[in-house]
Amino acid sequence: MKKQINEYISWIGKTDWELKKFHGDEFTTNKGSSYNAYLIQDEKTVLIDTVWLPYDKEFVKNLKQEIDISKIDAIIMQHGEIDHSGSLVELMREIPDTPIYCTANGVKSIKGQYHQEWNFIPVKTGDTLNIGKHTLKFIEAPMLHWPDTMFTYMEGADVLFSNDGFGQHLASEYLYADEVEQSVLWEQALTYYANILAPFGLLVNKKIQEILGMNLKIQMICPSHGLIWRKNPEQIVQKYLEWANNYKENQITILYDTMWNSTRKMAESIAEGIQEVDKKVTIKIMNTSRDDKTEVLTEVFKSKMILVGSPTVNNGYLHSIAGILEMIRGMKLKNKKAAAFGSYGWSGEAVGQITESLKKSGFEIINDGMKQMWTPDEEMKKQCIEFGKSMIENEKENV
Ligand code: FEO
Repeated sequence: MKKQINEYISWIGKTDWELKKFHGDEFTTNKGSSYNAYLIQDEKTVLIDTVWLPYDKEFVKNLKQEIDISKIDAIIMQHGEIDHSGSLVELMREIPDTPIYCTANGVKSIKGQYHQEWNFIPVKTGDTLNIGKHTLKFIEAPMLHWPDTMFTYMEGADVLFSNDGFGQHLASEYLYADEVEQSVLWEQALTYYANILAPFGLLVNKKIQEILGMNLKIQMICPSHGLIWRKNPEQIVQKYLEWANNYKENQITILYDTMWNSTRKMAESIAEGIQEVDKKVTIKIMNTSRDDKTEVLTEVFKSKMILVGSPTVNNGYLHSIAGILEMIRGMKLKNKKAAAFGSYGWSGEAVGQITESLKKSGFEIINDGMKQMWTPDEEMKKQCIEFGKSMIENEKENV
């Protein structure tokens, strides 16, 4: 249902309490999400974005309850991904000639998905659309989240519609970020950034600098997922600048998978060694086949160092480690250290292969890793503890 934001703008999106997976099964959304579409009723009536395909009929029905949809003068599609464009077919069936403003790449992505010759009006950064008392200014924002993404600034109202940027996968009965439990809000904002925008840190940084350079007065940031930033919207902008600049906390994350618990025991002893010499560092130990991969990637994003362990099986490593290494590669992280470990019975290739993968993914490799044959005994446990200690010693040497 429509929720009024100010005299001219209302939220007309869909809160998806049930959503547990996003991007297929790639992203876990245990807190649900929302697809935020916005309706602007100035002298002209403008719709910014739509909602995900399964809710298309509900969306159009809701719109019809609020306005005569034939009176929509313009649709702004800030991003073609289906969670925002999914209701277009249902909507355009009724108002086929309504202009759709989007970037040139937006035309490609929407045409590519829906195969329709709608009335597209490609826009670039700086292009404007006067809607009466206000003017909409478009700002291309490629890779936040796709090459087609753009933001829309509403001059006069001082509102930035930022699509995926500054969003969170968080369903809420509330509309504004200041109304919800802050720890949950920030955890979801960080999880969203780490899992969706982390690979594009350089572009995020550049785009924010560009927007700051425009000296736009921004009183509110309206993203396409989650809560609206109403109070101090600059707080999420500042966070994005931190996250986009090789973010790391004083944290070491140990990832492992295990067949008969030897590699798990190694992980625990390595953690013991780290803690013996550094009581302040946060240590997270995660089993990649049991822990949620979205949480794993978030912890990797927060870490200054990761240690990745797998036993050797069939001359390689376990599939959950392969999956997580591939996801880590895609994050394009910089300025983080890594090492590998694992047990083996016969050939023992996994540690070298994991090390190679981490190196290719841009990690600074601390050493050749630690491999142990068969089950760790007391002596081998001590070696793991020493290995853990050496991780911190390496840190100190490099300060
Ligand atoms: Fe929320 Fe990139 O779509």
